Amino acid sequence: MRRLNISGGRPLRGELKIQGSKNSVLPILAATLLTEEPCEIRNCPDLTDVRAALEILEALGCRVSFDGQIARVDAGSAAGTKIPDELMRRMRSSVMFLGAILGRNRSAQIGHPGGCELGARPIDIHLRAFSRLGVSLLENGGYIHCHLRQYLPQTITLIFPSVGATENVMMLCALMPGETVLVNPAREPEIVDLQNFLNCMGADVMGAGSDCIRIRGVKKLHGCSYSVIPDRIVAATYACSAVSCGGEVLLSHVEPEHMRLFLAMLQDMGAQIREEGDRLWVKAKGRPNAIPLVKTLPYPGFPTDMQPLLMAALLKSRGSTVFHETIFENRFRHAGEFLRLGGDVQVEGVSAIVHGVNRLHGADVYASDLRGGAGLILAALGADGKTRIEGVEHIERGYVSVTECFRKLGGDVILTED
Ligand code: UD1
Repeated sequence: MRRLNISGGRPLRGELKIQGSKNSVLPILAATLLTEEPCEIRNCPDLTDVRAALEILEALGCRVSFDGQIARVDAGSAAGTKIPDELMRRMRSSVMFLGAILGRNRSAQIGHPGGCELGARPIDIHLRAFSRLGVSLLENGGYIHCHLRQYLPQTITLIFPSVGATENVMMLCALMPGETVLVNPAREPEIVDLQNFLNCMGADVMGAGSDCIRIRGVKKLHGCSYSVIPDRIVAATYACSAVSCGGEVLLSHVEPEHMRLFLAMLQDMGAQIREEGDRLWVKAKGRPNAIPLVKTLPYPGFPTDMQPLLMAALLKSRGSTVFHETIFENRFRHAGEFLRLGGDVQVEGVSAIVHGVNRLHGADVYASDLRGGAGLILAALGADGKTRIEGVEHIERGYVSVTECFRKLGGDVILTED
């Protein structure tokens, strides 16, 4: 059993370089299928999800290599159209390969992604958009069979700005004839990054980050070298660590523009923030102020991925904070573990209320999902005594060298295996 052993209660201090964005690099890796020429993806974080994405590309016939920083993909002979079920199960977000496989080979089969620890996670918005664009869909034996006979360029309005559906449509349309317009797309920075990558390959995509994306299909895309954006969720994690246990952290290779709302909230909580180009300095002392309401929303609203992190940082706040989770129906599993650490959190459906306590204490806890697990590390670092966290593999899906990074900031964090 692998466990993180954390002795909390001491302030953090130090400097860290923030890794490349997981949520950017995964669709970008999928998009390399759209060219027969080699692509080089720089600032690629060495994560289990990235390794799984590279295995999917290999299973589809690509030649891949990864040195831990730069991923190289040569999709010259990627004739594969089916993602093996085992790989599909390993990484739920492999549904984002669908648009790229279809764009490349006009046919695709994937296992139904099913639910996950955060909730049901349907893909109906993806499939409805595909169907409008001319893709025939057949569900059979747990697989979704997609086939594109004739592409029907048009204006598609998403009923919800789904990140995955937006990415899938962008990838499908890049090589299709005519102009496709996507209304009410997701506006996350990772969507802009995907647009920039596609355009770097020679695509004609405009409007990402706004409420309308226009894709003019081109005949062919070419290889390129591209560097992914910094991971705003990872940056938020280490910024929150300065608040949950007090201290001073300097984060480099950050894009503060992608974290505006979060940074404003940290300031309201009493943290001092300074920005200098791509460097972010966060200093906090004592118990933070509570904030009245944290409501998760599509970007530029407060990100659902930061909800567990901010909740951890508010466990010892002065006052009470209401969390309202509007994106995923089952995203408070960390709250039960926070109780074990002495936190006072009441969950009622999709809302939770945190009453700040004076102190937290160590306990044995379980990380059941990626960001909830990161929240547990933050809470444990701010708790007196020893905490043991199981379920480390969930945390490692999104954080490169998480033990070493917290140790670099002076945290007493040790990974053990027995
Ligand atoms: C979501 C987050 C994204 C985050 C990622 C990983 C939002 C809007 N998206 O992206 O920021 O990085 O999780 O944690 O915050 N939905 C449907 N039908 C669909 C697709 C989605 O009902 O076909 C629903 C989902 O169940 C969910 C919501 O829409 O309630 C958001 O989904 P979506 O943005 O697609 O999720 P991800 O792409 O996974």
